[in-house]
Amino acid sequence: MSNQNITLTDTAKLFISDKEYDLPITIGTENEVGIDISQLRNKSGAITFDSGYGNTGSCQSAITFIDGEKGILQYRGYPIEELAGKSNFIETSFLLIFGHLPNKKELERFQFQLTHHSLIHEDMKKFFEGFPPKAHPMGILSAMVSSLSAFYPEDGYNVDVELNIVRLLAKLKTIAAFSFKKSVGQPYIYPRNDLGYASDMIHMMFAVPSEAYEVPKVVEEALDLLLILHADHEQNCSTSTVRMVGSSEANLFASISAGICALWGPLHGGANQEVIQMLEKIKNDGGDYKKYIGLAKNKESKFKLMGFGHRVYKNFDPRAKILKASADRVLKELGVTDPLLDIAKNLEEIALKDDFFIERKLYPNVDFYSGIIYRAMGIPTNMFTVMFALGRLPGWIAQWKEMRETPGARIYRPRQIYIGDTKRPYIPLEKR
Ligand code: ACO
Repeated sequence: MSNQNITLTDTAKLFISDKEYDLPITIGTENEVGIDISQLRNKSGAITFDSGYGNTGSCQSAITFIDGEKGILQYRGYPIEELAGKSNFIETSFLLIFGHLPNKKELERFQFQLTHHSLIHEDMKKFFEGFPPKAHPMGILSAMVSSLSAFYPEDGYNVDVELNIVRLLAKLKTIAAFSFKKSVGQPYIYPRNDLGYASDMIHMMFAVPSEAYEVPKVVEEALDLLLILHADHEQNCSTSTVRMVGSSEANLFASISAGICALWGPLHGGANQEVIQMLEKIKNDGGDYKKYIGLAKNKESKFKLMGFGHRVYKNFDPRAKILKASADRVLKELGVTDPLLDIAKNLEEIALKDDFFIERKLYPNVDFYSGIIYRAMGIPTNMFTVMFALGRLPGWIAQWKEMRETPGARIYRPRQIYIGDTKRPYIPLEKR
């Protein structure tokens, strides 16, 4: 939320008991106002308390801007709707990481690098073999990304960060596709340099050595769109995790591996898998979606409408709007009818008119329709969050790079309000 009337010469005033403290103001390029409390503890002994960081700015960033009240999302100043309609995932990745749209030469070089670094070391195949067949691909993905640090170690400060960035971007789709092949017990399909990023990913997942396979255009385009829409989302749980781990100067691969773990949770990137499981449950229960709206409103049921609600968007999620239209188009072009899409639309329609959801400003988020598109593309449910991670990778990299390049960047180290026992003497075992 911006406030046009506040200027940099203003200060915020804080009173603690009878003492007054002046706190400097910081203002972003979109007029977002922050109160700088970094010296508050030194001056007053007090810290600010903000459980879940809902009102805490952890950094200054020039990558992504969100206005949750207005439903605005921009990467490096470009509206998501324009990028979704006119750009592609590779160009958008370059934009996020390097801060500007690439010219022709830069784009060609980047594309060349991403194809020519997509093989993974043959020894890494042995790691895949060690996982049980039912292993969740997110666990494999995180472990493999962390393992990349063993193959491309940082040699003190003499590390070619740009090369490692390219390696990671190029190899993540190979790792993701291999983890899928592992789960279905099929031979790995190697990356192909003649295919684009999205089509190579689909090819590695669905091709088999015994027959030719051509990636349907509609599937390639749908995946590219999904990747763009997921590419960054400022300081969410996984991105903050990447920054948190990276702030200790941990290497790129270790930091991104941690971000993948954070994304896995059902309240974050894992929600796309949960949405489909929820829709299937409703379908198997006779399709009575109204009953589930009732359950979501009843706190005692512990049931949540997965794919609904967002910490930041309080009007609509612009990504969900784009995906709803895309879901209709993709299913039509692929000739897929999915009863889950109808249940999803009914849930959305009824929830948007219901006071419970209106009062709490709960709207469909990006995960509400993405799963339906993935299903239509033939991607199994447990791979949905992996696809999200693939999309989010350039954002994580951009945020990690920005943090590492910020002069005077400090290790992330929040404070706490201790509520445990006060000092007490140790009790010997025989007296307990
Ligand atoms: N269904 C039913 N009620 C909900 C839902 C939901 N999906 N989401 C929030 N609420 C209710 C809460 O119970 C709370 O009600 P109360 O004020 O009466 O206590 C109110 O709405 C505010 O919700 P919070 O949980 O406080 O909001 P918060 O910002 O902490 O959480 C979150 C946001 C995690 C996204 C939450 O809305 C949620 O759990 N949604 C379902 C999971 C999901 O879709 N996650 C994906 C998010 S997008 C992403 O990460 C890519």
